[in-house]
Amino acid sequence: YIGFGFPDATESTAVDVEIVGLHEKFTLKFSHVVAENTPKGLAAAYFAELVSEKTGGWVEIQVYPNGVLYDAQEEFDALKNGEVQMIAPAFSEVTVRDPKWIVMDLPYLFDSEAKVEQAFEGSVGELLLKSIEREGFKGLAFWDNGFKQLTNNVRPIILPEDVHGLLFRVMPSEALFKTYQTVGAAAVTISFNDVYNALRDGVIDGQENTLSNIYSKGFYQQQQYMTITNHNYLGYVVLIDPEFWRTLPEVYQSSILEAMEEVTAWQRHHARELNKEMLERIAVGSNIEIYEQTEEERAVWRKALKPLYDVYEPIIGKELLDEFAKLQN
Ligand code: LMR
Repeated sequence: YIGFGFPDATESTAVDVEIVGLHEKFTLKFSHVVAENTPKGLAAAYFAELVSEKTGGWVEIQVYPNGVLYDAQEEFDALKNGEVQMIAPAFSEVTVRDPKWIVMDLPYLFDSEAKVEQAFEGSVGELLLKSIEREGFKGLAFWDNGFKQLTNNVRPIILPEDVHGLLFRVMPSEALFKTYQTVGAAAVTISFNDVYNALRDGVIDGQENTLSNIYSKGFYQQQQYMTITNHNYLGYVVLIDPEFWRTLPEVYQSSILEAMEEVTAWQRHHARELNKEMLERIAVGSNIEIYEQTEEERAVWRKALKPLYDVYEPIIGKELLDEFAKLQN
């Protein structure tokens, strides 16, 4: 017996008596900043559906997409203040709260999605979750989006010197600012919801994002050049308010964890497909010039950006870096 009846069930049964106290409906607000037709948007919606199914409607996840409630940094405070119960920020946003997460923003850290997966599922993932827990956030899972690509309006970006003097929008992670500075460009933080206008108005020359974000927010319509760089991985950590979590009956906690596991597995595969599809849509539906970085060019970028690894080593710490070193082997 796992359903516990639906919220409007009025009949009392023997089982109901045993689980008395459970008949309280729990509602969780889940805020995120991206469009619904993206890896995160779809995962959040699917998660809400599965949780409702698994708890017979006794736990309701209300999803607020597109940053309608908060921008990415405000979400952390809203979670702490109990205004929302779940968020799924990008790693770069987490670095503001926990600098150890900067490790995920080191340029060209991952050369394949398989490595990313290995990191999420192994000790790297465990260490990152433990670290963010100390800041008062309970991590439930890592969700994928994909690798970030570079768009701009000035010239094709092939080698590091091509970004000289350009201004890019980045998420508020110190390592991202430093990345651009290291190759002679500049970076500025703008909330995700304001990026489209900033591109349109020429406030910035370019931005970096996944194909699904570039497509769903129309950034490609305001940009002339896109380079497939795969220079950083854009992933998310699903966070829940630990105080709220403790108030949930164990049986609902299990349902949530189960739903999370199913969604995470589904999402991993789906994120890749979606980003591929969005690349096609961008190519077909616009005049943007798309250039794919070669292995040789990638090596030049890696070399130019290598100093960042030394800069952040003391902040990230040996324990975490050692785990990464094991991954690379
Ligand atoms: C951003 O550029 O702010 C986005 O990548 C945010 C997100 O959650 O994907």
